[in-house]
Amino acid sequence: MSPVLSGESPQDIAQAAKILRGGGLVALPTETVYGLGADAANEHAVRRIFAAKGRPADHPLIVHLGRTADLERWAREIPPLAWRLAERFWPGPLTLILKRNPDVPAVVTGGQATIGLRVPAHPVALAVLQAAETGVAAPSANRFGRVSPTTAEHVAAELGTAVDAILDGGPCSVGLESTILDLSGNSPQILRPGAITAAAIAELIGETPGSGGASSPRVPGRLPSHYAPQTPLRLLDRQALAAAVEQLSPSDPAIAVLSMQPPPATAGQVQWLEMPEDAEAYGRRLYARLREADAAGCQSMLVERPPATPQWDAVQDRLRRAAATEPHPSPPPR
Ligand code: TXA
Ligand code: MG
Repeated sequence: MSPVLSGESPQDIAQAAKILRGGGLVALPTETVYGLGADAANEHAVRRIFAAKGRPADHPLIVHLGRTADLERWAREIPPLAWRLAERFWPGPLTLILKRNPDVPAVVTGGQATIGLRVPAHPVALAVLQAAETGVAAPSANRFGRVSPTTAEHVAAELGTAVDAILDGGPCSVGLESTILDLSGNSPQILRPGAITAAAIAELIGETPGSGGASSPRVPGRLPSHYAPQTPLRLLDRQALAAAVEQLSPSDPAIAVLSMQPPPATAGQVQWLEMPEDAEAYGRRLYARLREADAAGCQSMLVERPPATPQWDAVQDRLRRAAATEPHPSPPPR
């Protein structure tokens, strides 16, 4: 197993920064999910990220910065809008897509002319970034296409020995990946919904951002099957879920249920995983719950569809993708 460093120890944070400076891989906590970090200025180190994740090399990485002023080292032609958004939302769960500074190794951005940048809000991430004095390229610290890790234990289970160290900063407070806002085109576009909502961005910039192209091949998070648990998952309205559970017979294979309701008295062979009714709390919990459902070894998972209101956008987005896994989920229980 990779050594686990404590985010509460200044020596361990210094050690993590040293590993990064030396071209190593460090899994580090952010407020969204854990990232698999390497020095973004070191091409060789960045290549190791792709190998550890099993990620195709043309998929761009987000570069994490210790302070907003570092933007200028990584991006060029930064629009005033980017500075305003950074001032309002950084440190925080917002990634800005800007034009890439040509000095940045092409491998970081999958060869693209743009670059994703953010200053994370986790104090441990900020401390490491500031100590390392470089940008840290970091995708979520999971195997490609899998659920993002929200604890150091998840990272260890997922990546084992593939990293030089895991820095433990406790469970992530947001739990879903950052909002991605593309500022490189004619108008701001949200490429991935997250905790910074379209409404919050609109309130600051005075215009509602678009929601990206139909499918940008450059954003693997937008592939339908991204963020997928191993267990086939189906989304059902509350009534349909209740009916499906009621109709289960003892001979049916075990299933897992993610619901905002308490379990019914009859939920015999169901692994009932109750979810919070509040969107933020739900988002914080979701990935750990999907891992629990996988670990329970159920044949399928039924998920109560959350409300279709804007504060649920990020959760809805991740659940839709999780449900879109191929091969298609098995039919509903009879
Ligand atoms: O919250 C997060 O964003 C986490 C933490 C670790 O910061 N990171 C994360 O990274 O989710 P990753 O690689 O799993 O997802 C980043 C997404 C990918 O879908 C990637 O394609 C997109 O950001 N992305 C990065 N750079 C881009 C660019 N230049 N243009 C378009 N999309 C980009
Ligand atoms: Mg990811």
